[in-house]
Amino acid sequence: MRYGRIAAFLAVSLAVAGSTPADAHPRDDGSLRAAARGTGVRIGTAVDMSALAADAPYKQAVAREFDTVTPENVMKWEVVEPQPGVYDWTAADQLVDFARKNGQLVRGHTLVWHSQNPSWLTEAAYTPDQLRTLLRRHIFAEVGHFKGRVWAWDVANEVFNEDGTLRDTIWLRALGPGYIADAFRWAHQADPKAVLFLNDYNNEGVNAKSDAYFALVKQLRAEGVPVQGYGMQGHLGVQYGFPGTVLENVRRFDKLGVKTAFTEVDVRMVLPPDAAKVQAQAEGFGLLLRACLLAEHCVSYTVWGFTDKYSWVPGFFDGQGSATPLDENLQPKPAYDTLRETFQLAGR
Ligand code: G3I
Repeated sequence: MRYGRIAAFLAVSLAVAGSTPADAHPRDDGSLRAAARGTGVRIGTAVDMSALAADAPYKQAVAREFDTVTPENVMKWEVVEPQPGVYDWTAADQLVDFARKNGQLVRGHTLVWHSQNPSWLTEAAYTPDQLRTLLRRHIFAEVGHFKGRVWAWDVANEVFNEDGTLRDTIWLRALGPGYIADAFRWAHQADPKAVLFLNDYNNEGVNAKSDAYFALVKQLRAEGVPVQGYGMQGHLGVQYGFPGTVLENVRRFDKLGVKTAFTEVDVRMVLPPDAAKVQAQAEGFGLLLRACLLAEHCVSYTVWGFTDKYSWVPGFFDGQGSATPLDENLQPKPAYDTLRETFQLAGR
């Protein structure tokens, strides 16, 4: 696999430099999923459950194009436990069933986070001891519910600031930094086979934040804490340029013995799109995929939505959008072709 991945990189570099990538791949039915087969890297998407229920072409595309799925929102704490002790797994179960029907693996997202927690979960309402009990109960309930059906979990999400200090959250304030190790231990007890990830944004290249993760992973593993994966969300923007040290970063985590994954890739731009932005976007998607294909233990590459019809970006960044590989009509952009060709070359 390793040599295959290096050959892929060389081939892709040649293709980018101007030679013609071959179109006819024996396993190529035109989908990303087919192109990714045999590369050792799974191709995934975040799934919007309202769209999956209401939009048949969207649903068909999720099944056709991807071999892993991540719930964009429906496994988050506010959704699964709307009232204390009252669980609602409906939407998450629907996704897990959909995935099983379509031969896809599920990335669970996410167990401990500062955002999208239930409104009843506040520091005013509970003591630190009670919060610890609630976090433990949440992790056992959720991971236990999906035991054997979720391949990998984003256990702890976005725990560091950009400067590498721990983010000031309800969990850090109430429980101290040990909450991260506890969360991993509890998740592992609840499903010993699930692959357990840390996950964050702006941690794709070597920088203060990824340095902090590197130190944390090293420390936790030395202490026997079951951290098995390092997730890089990959929310990029063409207006910022792209980090130049992604491969270096992924490889240093490789050497620590953890799996890596790109977990939420999208490449936004200031609207309207033009040819230069669209080309830069394709390069951003390709850059992260090439790093994944070249790393020994990079197991998956997930896009955070595959069509602009349902992307989170315009709602969060004024005047920005067009961040996914397919447009609002599910028509491919150059980014889609880059992903497919990069996978195809790696699969040879
Ligand atoms: O479900 C309610 C709906 O009932 C209500 O009518 C509507 C009105 O605003 O809000 C709906 O909730 C929204 C939810 O998405 C589901 O659509 C929230 O307002 C909205 O804030 C929420 O946004 C999500 C965001 O996480 C929250 O932080 C995005 O869809 C989701 O793509 C985004 O995903 C995160 C990852 O989990 C972690 N990494 C960053 C990434 C992008 O922010």
